[in-house]
Amino acid sequence: MDVIELETILAEEQHHPHYLLQMLRRVQEKENYISPSTMAFFAEKLNLPLTKVQGVVSFYSLLNTTPRDYHILFSDNIIEHLQGKEQLMQLLMSKLGIEQGKVRADQRVCVENTSCIGMSDQGISALVNGLTITNLNEQRISEMVDLIEKKVPLSQWSPAWFKVKNNIQRKDQLLNTNFVAGSVLQYVQTQTTDQIMETLKIAAIRGCGGAGFRLDSKWDFCRKTPANERFVVCNADEGEPGTFKDRVLLQNYADLVFEGMTVCAKVIDAKQGFLYLRGEYRYLLDDLEKTLAKRREQQLLGKAILGDSNFNFDIKIFMGAGAYVCGAETALIESLHGNRGVPRKRPPPFPVNVGYSGKPTVVNNVETFSLAVKALMMGGENFAKLGTEQSHGTKLLSISGDCEKAGIYEFPYGVSVREVLEACGTDFSTVQMVQNSGPAGNSLAPEDFERKFAFEDVNTTGSIMIFNKNRDILEVVQNFANFFVHESCGFCTPCRVGTSIIKNLVTKVRKGRGSNVDLKEMQDLSILIRNAAHCGLGMTATNHISDTLKKFPQLYRARLHNSESLHPTFDLDGALEDARQITHRQDANAHL
Ligand SMILES: Cc1cc2nc3c(=O)[nH]c(=O)nc-3n(C[C@H](O)[C@H](O)[C@H](O)COP(=O)(O)O)c2cc1C
Ligand code: SF4
Repeated sequence: MDVIELETILAEEQHHPHYLLQMLRRVQEKENYISPSTMAFFAEKLNLPLTKVQGVVSFYSLLNTTPRDYHILFSDNIIEHLQGKEQLMQLLMSKLGIEQGKVRADQRVCVENTSCIGMSDQGISALVNGLTITNLNEQRISEMVDLIEKKVPLSQWSPAWFKVKNNIQRKDQLLNTNFVAGSVLQYVQTQTTDQIMETLKIAAIRGCGGAGFRLDSKWDFCRKTPANERFVVCNADEGEPGTFKDRVLLQNYADLVFEGMTVCAKVIDAKQGFLYLRGEYRYLLDDLEKTLAKRREQQLLGKAILGDSNFNFDIKIFMGAGAYVCGAETALIESLHGNRGVPRKRPPPFPVNVGYSGKPTVVNNVETFSLAVKALMMGGENFAKLGTEQSHGTKLLSISGDCEKAGIYEFPYGVSVREVLEACGTDFSTVQMVQNSGPAGNSLAPEDFERKFAFEDVNTTGSIMIFNKNRDILEVVQNFANFFVHESCGFCTPCRVGTSIIKNLVTKVRKGRGSNVDLKEMQDLSILIRNAAHCGLGMTATNHISDTLKKFPQLYRARLHNSESLHPTFDLDGALEDARQITHRQDANAHL
């Protein structure tokens, strides 16, 4: 990239060090890599140490430092893995004559794995130079090889390949909303902030990003924290494997999300908001920018919203660059500052006290902001009538795996696991396990199927992956263990080293070389990592190990290498009972 182009990026990103990641991402998009001279350029212009810029580049998995024309990243989601992703990837690499992760000698192409790209309802998928291609099959792979060898630019590849379907299968209150952009803003202009807060308090919306913290409390803490500036952040990082509900909201209901952020800005008196959009959802960016531009034209964003000179607020879209940990709100704020996404130490302080730029900040999930709008449209009392006592409203579920109709399902809280499985066309008798809330969540066995999705029972972030009896659960566990090794930010030892040891133990047991002592080691380590990890990623990284050991011990036992003769005195059942007690106590902490 020449200096003039780099200067343009710098100017468009306001020469602001907080936008370093945005600058780097734009260079990556243009050139498919970031050269040493580009890093030196930004270091000099932003007055940052070169090591800081290099550190940021090395942290994010969608940024590269070696040249290539085509960068192909296969989504390593377990659902796609079980659909044959590995075979397709091998086919592509053999046709291209390359090894995984190595750039071909002619610098044309590199093929690698990446964590779930949020398309597990769309067949096998990949990112090619940052853009999503779905429904990969042998035919597409052959055509892709042809296009690469003929150096055909991505803009000339078949547009059909880049189509992302919504797959909305069941709508309820939220997805049935007949929403006119600005209508809720007009309504809140007739209310005091106390009145708005009163409605939200009655609605008692619980956050949809995992922890279920009440929206009204969060907004209230933020507005009451003394400050001269406050910020609104929408968390659209959606990195939990198997989740794609926020993708659909942003694709079809973006006005609802932006309206929710703008109402929040009015309540907490913020002038600036950020939509933190995961890098893997690059294909959504242009349409989202158009929606924002339209809202500015309609006086729903910008200066003097709806003619009120005291109401000024705008939203910038900030793109992530491939790091699951950046979904954790303090890591997300670090990333917004242009840093490596390493979670902050907490509590205290919480982002509502010390957030973006050190100012009070509300961070809410995409779905949570949409629900705020819905509650204001319906009225707090009506909203609170939906769902259960402690979980009001409805929940979006992203369902994939062994079912007839993968996609998005909206249900009132309180729906049972069985009802959900029936709705998506699952033959009940064939289900072996349902993984709720992704690898960080919990593994449900058939005896759990009468339980309810609600904060008082099975808390869900919305990722539901179904595995039938033909699936090897230890293959699933291996995929999850690999995911956490890949996504650990490396800051603290229990998580960085512990997840690697767990992964190796799972491999050992899967290969039939493990003993019951290895199972005990897995269980002990799971507890140690959970208790000693610095952030929510580590605290939840071994839930799948504890859960599957607890619910499917026979699957592990069947793989052990002649366990009785190796360690006849070791009490596996006793160890698993200890684990049952401990995991039971820890369930409530899931996904902080
Ligand atoms: C490792 C990790 C990843 C997370 N990823 C997300 C995410 O992708 N989206 C999200 O909304 N919350 C995510 N969270 C939860 C956020 O930290 C935070 O609780 C949430 O954004 C708050 O919004 P809510 O109150 O609307 O749920 C994650 C947490 C952890 C520990
Ligand atoms: S627990 Fe893992 S992700 Fe979190 S700070 Fe430690 S190393 Fe990083």
